Order: sequence, then structure tokens, then C-alpha cells
Amino acid sequence: MVWHAETSELEPGPSLRAAVLAARVERHWPTVLHGVRQLYPGHAPALAGALAELVRTSVLQRPAPLFVRDLARDADPGWFQRADNIGYVCYADLFAGTLAGVAERLDYLAELGVRYLHLMPLLRPRDGENDGGYAVAAYDEVNPALGTMADLQSLATALHGREMSLCIDLVLNHTAAEHPWAVKARAGDPAYRDHYLFFPDRTVPDRYETTLLEVFPTFAPGNFTWLPDLRQWVWTTFHEFQWDLNWASPHVFQAMFEVMLQLADQGVDVLRLDAAPFMWKREGTICQNEPEVHVLLTTLRALMSIAAPATAFKAEAIVAPEQLTPYLGAGEPERHECDLAYNNQLMVMLWSSLATGDAKLMANALRRIGPIPSGAAWVNYVRCHDDIGWAIMPADSQSVGWDSFAHRDFLLQFFSGTFPQSFAEGAIFQYNPETGDGRTSGTAASLSGIERALTDGDEVHLQIACARLELLYAVVYAYGGVPLLYMGDELGLCNDAGYLADPAKADDNRWMHRPRMDWAVAERRNVQGTLEARLFAMFASLATDRASTGALDASGQLVVLQPSDPHVLAFTRTHPAHGTFAMLANFGHATTVVGLEALLGASAAGAQVRRARAATVADGTATLAPHGYLWLTQP
Ligand code: GLC
Ligand code: GLC
Repeated sequence: MVWHAETSELEPGPSLRAAVLAARVERHWPTVLHGVRQLYPGHAPALAGALAELVRTSVLQRPAPLFVRDLARDADPGWFQRADNIGYVCYADLFAGTLAGVAERLDYLAELGVRYLHLMPLLRPRDGENDGGYAVAAYDEVNPALGTMADLQSLATALHGREMSLCIDLVLNHTAAEHPWAVKARAGDPAYRDHYLFFPDRTVPDRYETTLLEVFPTFAPGNFTWLPDLRQWVWTTFHEFQWDLNWASPHVFQAMFEVMLQLADQGVDVLRLDAAPFMWKREGTICQNEPEVHVLLTTLRALMSIAAPATAFKAEAIVAPEQLTPYLGAGEPERHECDLAYNNQLMVMLWSSLATGDAKLMANALRRIGPIPSGAAWVNYVRCHDDIGWAIMPADSQSVGWDSFAHRDFLLQFFSGTFPQSFAEGAIFQYNPETGDGRTSGTAASLSGIERALTDGDEVHLQIACARLELLYAVVYAYGGVPLLYMGDELGLCNDAGYLADPAKADDNRWMHRPRMDWAVAERRNVQGTLEARLFAMFASLATDRASTGALDASGQLVVLQPSDPHVLAFTRTHPAHGTFAMLANFGHATTVVGLEALLGASAAGAQVRRARAATVADGTATLAPHGYLWLTQP
């Protein structure tokens, strides 16, 4: 490695690169070979040869700063687990117009302690309706409305210069019907026909439909779309313009790996693997979480660990807890699969507890989620761009004597604001009269009562609503994993009905919780006494407190406790180097008193209050007012 003193740059020479390549191949290639042979038995030698050439070229040609970044992260694989890794999620256009605009707003993110920026889909989508960018027409181009690949690269460089990392979406399960692969397949090009799943009549689709679910029963019923020109059905799990890729084809595997390499070379640090569970189809199943999905992801992970190990994988798998932990490599034996995964269960349970005042269902559900490998982490969140699907597992609701269907229905009514006494202002998304299932849209501020309090000009309720929002985020910032702040929550942005005026969005009410950043409103964070100043300061201090609490490193051990008061959520985090942390959160509507020794055992002695809201500790006893919480540490 040559060090250029004038520029402070390291220039890795070819012999270093070759040695690094050899060491990584030694470590990861057996996993690649195993995966390729299992998935593509008839094509294994040819595919393995092509992949070997791709990783070799990639290591030898990887931009020097990223090659150095690879080395650093190989030496420090827990880089994303640190207590100071705080995420922010936004659409580039809604946040700042363009990618270059985002680069100009990094100071704002720094004020919130952000170290990880997830930009929503930014590759070129199809024209017109495109499911918020999840219908990709070109993986090698940035959406021209946002900028260019060069802009993406300079944004990544700017983020890296400030010790921030960049996460972007990679849609693996489907492409837009307008993607060149789909266009060629449709035109009969034999090299592309196997990229998608076509059927001449309803025989096979009907057999699959007997067990498949519907993701969008309202605006895209069924899982197949008729193509009149071809006189064939094509598999479309989501919208009819999103064609599912056929991952049983080695060509799809290789092409998507090449896409990953190209994005990694722009400096992307985390790939959010969209809709990963759907990647493999098997008749007689719901075609989610099939064993081959895990082989696919493990194999892709191993390839990236050779070619671009600085790049982490984040699974978007909104599935039952039993099916979820394998995406983080949990199981026998442990695998290196995705590094991060969405903790959908925590999110659902937080809202459920806010509505009921009960924390026992949440504690039972969280306790039932098995352990995850210490090298992986959850991403924890309160809201995201999608609806909330009320994943209340019967095993959990039964544990508190509730009926899961009735509770789901209650949550649906509560958060749409129709339930008597509800404080929420949300909307129902994709109600399916056949199953009685529905999901919920709405921003965190609107769902926690801020919108209603503002409309009513009710200052007392506004304070309570802010306390609710703080309680949810205080859990998310303390729970095991990486916390994500969803754009606008730091200012209490409410539902935005603007989408109704756009025909490409009007029938999808998820847009109500994807508001545009209003920078004039954001300015009010500096005006004392405003809602924005209050919430923003709260988020900034949550970040500071979290970042300086080493025990919150995601590699530590999480234990969800069983306090005697069912309204209190309590958990501990223990890290071998950074000591113990405990959180107590009162979801109930009355003040409660908790004996710390009974709850925390020996570690209660010497526990110090790291952060508190409406809660105090005296003589070994914690007193928590409604929505009060405590962060305790013990060195
Ligand atoms: C994902 C996205 C969602 C999108 C779907 C189809 O789960 O989060 O917004 O509609 O995939 O790509
Ligand atoms: C379902 C899917 C998820 C998708 C979401 C869209 O939860 O599992 O992938 O993003 O629906 O609303």
C-alpha cells in the first residue's frame, strides 16, 4: 500500500489486492460453491466460473478509498452495531429535492446525531405509477429527477467524509414491466424468457393461488397478470407492472449480483433488500421464506464478502417472528446472511401497547423472538414508508387471554380513529373483506394524537401526544439494534393529503405518511416554545444519550423482563465491555411504582439514571408517571 503524503490517500497496489482476494476467497468461496450447486445444479460450473471472474475483477479494480474501507470493515465487522449508529430514513425528493440537495442537508442530519442515511428507492423507475420507486426500470441509472450515478457517488463520498453511511433500496424480487429484461422477455428473446415466470393458461397459476396470499388485495388482486399481446400470464406478486423475477434462473442471479457490485462501487454501504422473502416460489406454499431464499441470500452475502465487504445487507422481511430470525443468519448452524433486518414485531407491539396501555402482550411477543447472531442487528423503528400490518400472532395474544383477530380488528379501528376515545388519525389500507384483514396508514405524529390535538388547539392533549411519541422512540433508541428515525417525526409532521391530487398516487394512502419536508417548518426547531423545537430537541438528546451509552452497542445481549405491573415494559442490555443498561417504560394510564431489585436483581445496586421522562428513582424504587420512562446504566 502506498501512502500519498500530500493527499493523505492510500493507494493499494496490485500485489496487496491479490493477497486480499486470495484470503477472502479462501474464507468465503466454499459458501458460494455450496450455494450455486444447491440452487443451480445443472449450471454450477459455468455460473461459478462467471462469478469468480466478477469478484476477481471487482477486488482488483475497486476504487481505492472503498478498497481501504473494505479492509477497515473486515477488521471491524461490528461497525454498524455501535451505540452511536443512528439512522434516518427519507425520500431524496421529498426531503431535499435531489441527491445534490440531500448533500446540502447533512448538517441538519448531524444535529440529529444521524450516522446512517437510508434514502428510499432512487434508481430509475418506470414512468407514471411506480409504487414509490419500487418498480425499477434501470438498475444502472439514478432516477433522472434526483440526479445521476455521479451524484450518488459524490453523496456517498460526502457522507463518508462525515462518518455517515449510505443505505439504498435494491428491489430484488421484481422489476418494472418496462425494464429492458422484461421488454426483451416479452418480445420473445430466448435469453430473457427465463428471467420471469410466464404461464400459457390458468392451470398452474390457479394451483399456486390456492395457497398464495395477496399483498395488495384492493388495487392489485391476485398474483398473476394477463398479457394480451403474449397471451400468457406473468407472475406479479405486487402490482401488475411489477414482474417477479425468476430466481431459479442462474442468469437472474448473476445479473443481480452485478447490480450489487455496481452499487457498492458507488460507495453504498447498506443494501436494503426489498421484499426478499418472495424470491423463491414453491407450489403448495405461500411462496415466502422458502429455504432457497436463505441459500440465495447467504450466497450473495458470501460473494459480497469477497468483492465488497464494506457493504452490509438489510433484509426487508415483514414476516412472522419464527420466519424472521433466519434472515439474520440465526439457526443451526449460524450463517452469515443479512447483517440487519427490520424488527416489525417491535414496531407493531409499540403501537398496540400505546392503544391498550398494556405492555404484557408486547413483552411476551418480544421474548418469543429467538436470539440472533451477535454479529447481526435489528433495525428498530416506529414508522416507515409502508403501512402497519397488524401482525398479532395467536400464540402471543393467547398468552394474555386475547383473541388475535379481535385485537387486530381493534387496532385497525383504533388507529383509523373510529374507535371511541381513540386519539389517532390514521386510515385503513387494503381492507380485505374476505379475510377481515386490514392495515394502517398515517404518520407517527398523527397516530399518536399530535394531529388531533393541533386541530383541537388542545395544549394539554398536545403534551400527552408528544409524550406518547417520545415513549415509542425512547424504546426504539434503547432496544437492541440500530434505531431509525423516519423523516418528519422529528418535527411532528402530520398526515399529508397532497397525494390525492396525483392520479399516480391517489389510490395508495401510504402516501399520506410520506409528507414533503417543509423547511420553513423545520426552521421552527430553533424557535423556543414551538412544537418543532420541543420534538427536535428531544430527538437530538435521545441521540446524544444513546451515543454515549456504550452498553447499547447492538452486539450486547438483550433480555426482556417480566415486571409485576403489566403496563410496564422492561428490558436489559448487557455488553461485555460496556456494562449493563436497563429500560423501564410505563404504557399505562396511571403512575406506577417498581422495585428495582426485584426486577433487575443485583445490578439494581449502583444503577444510575441516564435519561428519564416523568420518572424518578429513590431508595431502590422507580416511580413512573403515565408515559414515563427510565434509562438506567450500571458501569
Ligand atoms: C416493499 C416496499 C413496499 C413496496 C413493496 C413492493 O416491501 O417496502 O413499499 O410496495 O416492497 O416492492
Ligand atoms: C407486505 C409485504 C411487504 C410490503 C408491504 C407493502 O407487508 O410483506 O414486503 O412492503 O406489504 O405494504
